[in-house]
Amino acid sequence: MPADTTHPLATKRLVIGHLTVCQGCCCGNTENGRPPVAVEWLKKEWRSRGLLKRVQLTISGCLGPCDLPNVVTVSNESGTQWFGEITEFEQYRDLVDWASRSRDARELLPLPKEFQRHTLHPFRQFDSRADR
Ligand code: FES
Repeated sequence: MPADTTHPLATKRLVIGHLTVCQGCCCGNTENGRPPVAVEWLKKEWRSRGLLKRVQLTISGCLGPCDLPNVVTVSNESGTQWFGEITEFEQYRDLVDWASRSRDARELLPLPKEFQRHTLHPFRQFDSRADR
């Protein structure tokens, strides 16, 4: 196999997808009146369901679109989907159930339909005009 000179580094830690959950200056900042993020529950469920090695879970600092807390992203080789206003505990439970089903299916399955109305336009957070 010829060497890939464009991407010379490759990790051995392969996952089917990556869920990033924002907990930053706004997302999960209950002291500022923002909805909570079920971080500790998510970590516990991810461990107890054996998801760690198949679906990456990252709790991040601010991802950018703070006006739509709570923000999560779902990534795989096809790209990244962004979601905002994930404010209900049931939505985090749905994410864990979805990750479990995806692990069993060995691929990222579509998120539950309920998440469609929380989809953020991926490029509407960028504005290259410097005068704004
Ligand atoms: S704190 Fe979550 S997007 Fe900024």
